[in-house]
Amino acid sequence: PTKSVAVLPGDGIGPEVVSAALDTVEKLGLPLDFRLGDIGWDCWRQEGDPVPQRTWKLLEETDTCLLGAITSKPLRETEAELDPSLRGTGLTYVSPVLQLRQRLGLYANIRPVTDLDQGRFDFTVIRENTEGLYAGIDVHGLDEPLWNAVRHHPNAAASGPEDTSLTLRLQTRHGIDRLLRFGFAHAEAHGKRLLTVVDKPMVLRNSGNLLRERLELIARDHPDIETEILNVDAVALWMVRRPERFGVLVAENMFGDILSDLGAGVMGGLGLAPSGNIGDHGSYFEPVHGSAPGMVGQDKANPMAMLLTVAQMLDHLGFDVPGEELRDAVRTVARARTTVTYDLGGTAGTREVARAVADRLGRK
Ligand code: NAI
Ligand code: MG
Repeated sequence: PTKSVAVLPGDGIGPEVVSAALDTVEKLGLPLDFRLGDIGWDCWRQEGDPVPQRTWKLLEETDTCLLGAITSKPLRETEAELDPSLRGTGLTYVSPVLQLRQRLGLYANIRPVTDLDQGRFDFTVIRENTEGLYAGIDVHGLDEPLWNAVRHHPNAAASGPEDTSLTLRLQTRHGIDRLLRFGFAHAEAHGKRLLTVVDKPMVLRNSGNLLRERLELIARDHPDIETEILNVDAVALWMVRRPERFGVLVAENMFGDILSDLGAGVMGGLGLAPSGNIGDHGSYFEPVHGSAPGMVGQDKANPMAMLLTVAQMLDHLGFDVPGEELRDAVRTVARARTTVTYDLGGTAGTREVARAVADRLGRK
């Protein structure tokens, strides 16, 4: 059956890598219906919302979403860029990526990290997207109840409530359970034997205990998957030194944020790193990189991150064989080094690389 995809090219190099990647995907001849929509900086400036109503409608009507890139600016700059007719109306800019994650309930951020060159490693970082240290409980200047919780800390006592800030790491059974279940299912679906849970249990003892209890319970339903709980700092070290030891990693929001960018670095940079955001009722896929304003319109951006993102989306839609074919074609072109962009040491342009990948697909 035909699957429908909302395509939101967005800002900067987003439209360039999206259009190059979609031309390549056409070669696969899949029953896909791509439906173009608007998102990003121009929507904010002209309409007062980076995700317009018509885009939400499009997302409701489609099976998943492919996003290019978004330009975000510091809050103080956002209002000044609004169309004059919209200024002073109290509109506030909310990051489109955050809006998508929150409204669609996308709690798992999936970052595959593979060695395109030599196939030495192939693991996935799954970052929790909705709670942890980024749950939004982040206060500067403490009221009575919060102050009472920290006033005995000598540094707080020396600073006073007005000059103390507090960020809370929220961890819930609900959030932990669905993340762990997702991690196990992902490991099983991708033939991985090891699930690494990233935490800091010796320092964050009580929240660490909740996580360990839930892991022990849920692991009983998945006897074929080995589990471990590792310290986040140790994981960072091993990811660089022995990336081949990992299968699937799950981590709370901030630990996962940091480790997934480290993963992009281990892979060889932003021009190669794909990602997906998945919930129980929705999903969207985007390369890890942003809109790279310095490269716009120069046909310079590496389209491989977007091509691998499309492959991940194809897996998710159930087209896993074509997804693997596409990854294989990207791998072949990356290894050959003859047609690659500047970030991989070459001189080829965005469209040329995408065409080289399409040629590989055509050769089967
Ligand atoms: P960026 O990822 O856009 O670019 C950083 C640098 O990485 C570029 O200057 C370039 O050297 C390299 N790079 C990125 N993509 C590449 C590609 N496809 N091929 C080759 N090299 C590539 O990050 P930056 O410059 O910090 O942010 C630019 C804008 O993007 C900002 O407005 C930021 O808020 C936004 N952003 C959006 C993200 C998203 O859409 N999820 C993620 C990160 C940043
Ligand atoms: Mg990040």
